[in-house]
This record gives sequence, C-alpha cells and structure tokens, in this order.
Amino acid sequence: MTFTEPAATPLALLLLGRGADPDSERGVDCPGELPPASDPELVARASAAKATLGDRVFVLGHHYQRDEVIQFADVTGDSFKLARDAAARPQSEYIVFCGVHFMAESADILTAPSQQVVLPDLAAGCSMADMAGYQQVVEAWDVLTDAGVAATTIPITYMNSSAAIKGFTGEHGGAVCTSSNAGRALRWALERGEKVLFLPDQHLGRNTAVLELGIPLDKCVVFDPHRPGGGLTPEQLRDATMILWRGHCSVHGRFSAQNVADVRARIPGVNILVHPECRHEVVLAADLVGSTEFIIKTLDAAEPGSSWAVGTELNLVRRLAAAHPDKRVAFLEKTVCYCSTMNRIDLPHLVHALESLVRGDVVNRISVEPGIATNARLALERMLALAQPVAASD
Ligand code: 13P
Ligand code: SF4
Repeated sequence: MTFTEPAATPLALLLLGRGADPDSERGVDCPGELPPASDPELVARASAAKATLGDRVFVLGHHYQRDEVIQFADVTGDSFKLARDAAARPQSEYIVFCGVHFMAESADILTAPSQQVVLPDLAAGCSMADMAGYQQVVEAWDVLTDAGVAATTIPITYMNSSAAIKGFTGEHGGAVCTSSNAGRALRWALERGEKVLFLPDQHLGRNTAVLELGIPLDKCVVFDPHRPGGGLTPEQLRDATMILWRGHCSVHGRFSAQNVADVRARIPGVNILVHPECRHEVVLAADLVGSTEFIIKTLDAAEPGSSWAVGTELNLVRRLAAAHPDKRVAFLEKTVCYCSTMNRIDLPHLVHALESLVRGDVVNRISVEPGIATNARLALERMLALAQPVAASD
C-alpha cells in the first residue's frame, strides 16, 4: 500500500519544514543546504561566523533553547525580556532570534526598518499561537458584538500569538502581555473596560485573573472557536469578566495535579515551582508560580540544600539543575517534556543562518507586513509601557 500525504487543511498538522500554511506558524519551507548535525566543526564554524559579523549581529536566546544554541546567545531571557532587548539594540543590522516564530515577529515589529530579523529555522512555530487564527478571532468578536459586550471588552493577547492577532488586539484598544506582566495587563484592561477577551492561553488568563486579581472562577468562561457562538450563550458572555480563548501550551499543559502529589511523596520537603501556562489545578497544588525569569531568580535565591521540582520546559530545568549543584532541582514530570518547536533551532540551522549572513545572504528573514505591524506595534508598545513586569504570585 502506498502512503498518500493528506491534503493540507487549516487543522492538518503539516510535516515540519515542508509545504506552507500561511495561517499558522507550522510547516514552512526552510531553504538552503544545512551542515550535517554530525559535523564536529559546527561550534568552531558558529564562533567564526559570529566573530566575523561582530556588532552587526545580535543573537537572542530564549530560555527553552538547546544548550548547543544558547552558548552563542548574546543575551538570554523570557519573551518579555527578549522583546525589550531586541528593541534596545538599534546598532545591529541583523537580529538572529533563537526562539520561536511569534517572538521573531515581535522583534521585527519593535526594531528599526533597516534591521533584519532572522529565525534560524522557519518551522520553529508554536502550537499555542496556532490555536488562535486571525479569522477565528474576527468571528469571535462578532459573537461578542451580537451579545452586546464587544464595546466594553478589552482584548489582551499573550505574546505567544501571531502578529495578526497582536494587530487585532491593538486595533481594538488592547495590549500584549507576557507571563511576567499578565497581572498588570489585566488590571490595565479592567480600568478601561468591564471584561477581557484573553488570547490564546486559557490557563495564563485564568491563573492570573483568579490568583493575582481575585476574580472568582465562575466569572471566567472559555470561548471555544470550534463551537457555534464559542459554545457560550449571550447571557454567559454578559455575566463573565474573563472570556478565555480555548488555547493551551502543549508542553506546560502536560503537567497534572497527580505529578505534584507524586513528587511531594517522592521528595520530602520539596518546593514546587511552576509556570502559569500550567493548568489551574496544577498551579493551585504548587507552592510558587511565575514566568521563566521568575523561576530562574527563585532558584538563584533558594537556600543551599533545598529541594525543588520545576514545571516548565526541560532544557531550562536541566540547565538550572546544573547551575545549582548545591540544591536538588528535579523535573516535575518524569517523562521528557521539551518544546519540540523551540528545539527546531539547532546548531546546523544556526550555523547556516550565520554563515549566510557573512556572505550577505539573509536567509529565513521574518518580516511582518506593514499593515499588520502598525497595530501590532501599538499593542506591544502598550505592554512595554506597563512599567516593570509583575514577577509572580504565590
Ligand atoms: P515566557 O518566556 O513568557 O516565560 O513564556 C514561556 C513560553 O512558553 C515561551 O514560549
Ligand atoms: Fe509554544 Fe508552549 Fe513551546 Fe512556548 S513552550 S513555544 S507556548 S508550545
């Protein structure tokens, strides 16, 4: 029997790195000859290309990137810090973003037109960002309009969304947030409206609303874009304070309250520290919740000899464990939990991107259409103006 590849639909998972799906961050072509991963010269080649480019290139590395890539980052950070770092680097002609597609888009929007942003592998997307398509959000807004609530609803989108969604948010008076300033963004929105449409991560929206702002859980409803009217009645929409988009992170969504119970039974006195993209019951069962920057700072400040179980991406947890040999740092879940799309960026792709820049060839450039970028910039600048990020709640 011969295998026939299924036709691409907006919901079909394209094979990574092949074909194109303009409505999502997945499955775009990655042209060019990559050096083989087995090439022992890769580290030397990346160092040499970076040295040749000097200040013309600035390499940003998200905390979930592989060790082999993070060693070449000029700065590392969570998505809030990297957006700020990219905006503060006008002297670099090229910004090489070792992260995922929506982060590179944000960097392109926040940097000068003369600067070019490169994502070493165009297939490094984000499954959560793909859960909110632009057309779906436009249709959801129509549902809110019909229910008579759109005029009093402020959209807030998590950084983990496409530039088109950020543009929609900016156009409708809203702002972007990240996991380190979501509480501040929600307060900002509720000073301007009565309700928030929170995109696309229901868990970050719910955890922040309930735990930081004290909004009752029954004032949070979930809008399912795959059901008519979002699966909600106009009364439910009118009664809600938080309208949460039905999206989640495929990495953080894997942690369960059972994982928390198991690790408490296994490690006496363990402190459980999780990211706010985890499900609400996991966050309730944990001891501390916060963004990746908060997780790093908490472990830096922890007492020698203390024990920690961390619920976030595995590359970061492994680096934290290595950086704190005087503390016990375990992964919250026993099975491996890397972010597969973050891990698309590897040393062969980084070498390919840097060596191409040395030759004057800008491969895998991320360039947001000016029509989208204008409103998306508005939403991103509103976020940057929200002063210092709120680190976390416990
Ligand atoms: P932060 O970088 O905002 O902590 O988000 C985590 C994440 O999932 C990035 O994709
Ligand atoms: Fe997206 Fe989750 Fe990966 Fe972050 S960790 S890029 S939210 S899938």
